[in-house]
This record gives sequence, C-alpha cells and structure tokens, in this order.
Amino acid sequence: MRYDFDRLIERRNTSSEKWDKIAEYFGHEDALPLWVADMDFPAPEPVVEALRKRAEHPFYGYSFPPDSLYEAIVDWLWRRHGWRVKKEWIVFSAGVVNGLYSAVEAFSRPGDEVIVQPPVYFPFFSAVKNTGRHLLYNQLVTDGRRYTMDFAGLEALLRGKAGGGAAPRASRASLLILCSPHNPVGRVWTRDELSTLARICAEDGLLILSDEIHCDLLIEGAKHTVTATLSEEVARNTVTFMSAAKTFNVPGLATSFAVIPDGDLRRRYGLTRAGNNNGNLFGYAATEAAFRHGDEYLEQLRAYLTENVRYFMDFVATRIPRLKAYGPEGTYLGWLDCRGLGLGPVELQRFVRDKARLALNDGYIFGPGGEGFQRVNLACPRSMLKEAMERLEAAVGTI
Ligand SMILES: Cc1ncc(COP(=O)(O)O)c(C=O)c1O
Repeated sequence: MRYDFDRLIERRNTSSEKWDKIAEYFGHEDALPLWVADMDFPAPEPVVEALRKRAEHPFYGYSFPPDSLYEAIVDWLWRRHGWRVKKEWIVFSAGVVNGLYSAVEAFSRPGDEVIVQPPVYFPFFSAVKNTGRHLLYNQLVTDGRRYTMDFAGLEALLRGKAGGGAAPRASRASLLILCSPHNPVGRVWTRDELSTLARICAEDGLLILSDEIHCDLLIEGAKHTVTATLSEEVARNTVTFMSAAKTFNVPGLATSFAVIPDGDLRRRYGLTRAGNNNGNLFGYAATEAAFRHGDEYLEQLRAYLTENVRYFMDFVATRIPRLKAYGPEGTYLGWLDCRGLGLGPVELQRFVRDKARLALNDGYIFGPGGEGFQRVNLACPRSMLKEAMERLEAAVGTI
C-alpha cells in the first residue's frame, strides 16, 4: 500500500509526550515540536491491525514472547542485516534504556568507568551515573562536515598515552556504550570504523554495549554494519540492543530486545532482569507484525526521510547560512550548529523557544561537544518541517 507521510494528523490530547508536554517543557503551547525521537507518522497498517486484533481478545494477562516473534526477529536480522542470530540469544526488555541499565549493572562494578562518546543520547549518562559507575568521555571529533570517533583519544584514555604530560594510568573502564547509528550526530559508522573500535575494546578488555535502535532508519546511500557481524570474536564481546520502536514508531509500547551470543554474558544479564519488565503483549504483537510485514512501509519511509534531510540541509545552507546543518546518514535527527549566532546556552534555548517558537532538544544535554547545537527531529510531514524552518529563518533574521 501507499503510505501518505504528508498527512498531518492531530496528536494533541493523546498522552503524547511530544505534543502534550510542549507548554510544560518549552513554555509555549504554540511551539512546533521537533524534539523527542518519535515520528509524526502513523505506525504501519499491519501493526495497527495486529494491535486491534490482540485488543479484541479481552484478556490481557501475563504473557511471554511467542516463538513466532523470535522467528520474525531472526528472519528480519538475517534478511536486512545479514546477521544469523539464534533464538536463545534474544532477551526482551521494556525498552532499550531499561536494557542498558541492566547491562551496566550486570557487566561492571560500582565505581568502574564506562566510556561514552559524546555528544550522544543522554540516557547513556544516567544509565552509568545512576548505577554508581563513572563516565569517561571520548568525545567525537568533527571536521565541520562529518563526525568521526577519536581512536587516538580512546587509546590515550585507556592506556594513559595522552600527550600533555598526563601520567599513564591503569584504566578502570569495563564497558563502552556505542551508539550506532549515532544519535544525535547522525553518523552510520563504517565497517572500518567499527573494526578499529572493536579491536581497541578487545585489547583493553572492554565489553561493547552496542545500541543499534536506529539501524533500520537509513538515509539513502547509507549501509549499516551490525557491530556483532564483524567477527565471531567481536560478537562474543558485544551486547546489541534493538527494537522495532523507532523504525515503526511504536516507542510507547515499551518493548525491545538485546541480542547476546555469549552464554555467560546472557546468564549474567538475566540475573539483573527484575520482575515483569520484559516488554508486554502489545509490544510483542506490534514487533512481530512490523518485522513480518513492515518492509513496504520502511522503504517508503526512508525515501520520505531522505527528502526531508535534503530539504533541511538545503534550507539551512541557502536561507540560514549563519547556522550549519549536519544531515543524518542514519536516524531522522538533524544536528544544527548554532554557534554562529553567538548566543550562550541559556540565550540560545530562549531564542529557540521564545523567538522561533520551536521545541527542539538543546545540544548541551548530549554532553561535551553539544554546546551551541540544537537537535531537530526531521520525521514529520514536510509542511511541518517547512513551517519550522521558516520560523527559524525569521527568528535568526531578528538578531
Ligand atoms: C540511541 C537511542 N537509544 C535508545 C532510545 C530509547 O529507546 P527505548 O524507548 O526503547 O528505551 C532512543 C530514543 O530516542 C535512542 O535514540
């Protein structure tokens, strides 16, 4: 079927965090929400149908992921990512962030260091800090057009090889949390980049927690490499987090899964999984329908997002040249360098909210390297994106 991503659908008064919290979070009811990673497109019809069917049976008791769901995931990962996964490697959780917290607890000790590469999805920080571990930043670097990982910086962090007289130190880092594709800078890491990262991690005894929730949201021309497909050795040293939530816009169903090929890691992860937090029956139904019948939707979505990214990039380059846009290769998140406006963090926040009347994510929440940036969610009907960009252009024109 043909999906109409141009259609604007009213989402207010549906307990939508994106739409119903605008006034509370951003101060203005009329701010256009291009913030939290939730798309303004309805879920695919087969998903809606599966949920309808499940809801019609009026028993919502304790449930478990059925075999057919495991089969759908195994098939999807093979078909779309060339990854052969065994059913028993898959462990469900009530969302990727939920799983990350468990993994940090399972695979490190209080007081350990956990490496993250900011600017990055900020719940990584809380998963580390709230479990009594310490953050170690290996900041991404940019040449002004594209971000890359700082491998020399990572080695220096781990082995105390830093210049500038830093004394060598034994690392207490046990984990690295990778965001692949990377929210918010939009990189789809190449096979070479991932191989280098995996080699450094293996040499220094770091386990990789690879958050690949955006792996299917690829802008035209991008190719995602699942970290665990690099080699069997890397697979044994990686815990991969995935979900249908971003790709098919069902994050409110709070269901995701980790793929853990190594039996011992799987057992340790399992010990941290407390109570009834393994997803839920609606999440199971939606995930299965999405992975079985979602290809058509995904192809059309990717084409639409590719056009939105192009629109965003062209608009900034030609009409707001004081800003600089990074278009994503993966994810639907644009990353906007606003440092050319010369505003401090609070001034920039006020400018975006009060003057431009936009609800965006402030760059500084993504950690070091995010100051002076804004994250723009491009997954909305083009008319809404156009309106947002015109508001921004007009506001920039006033300063
Ligand atoms: C990189 C990344 N990981 C995880 C999540 C959230 O996943 P969940 O809602 O399954 O916890 C997001 C949502 O934006 C994300 O961008």
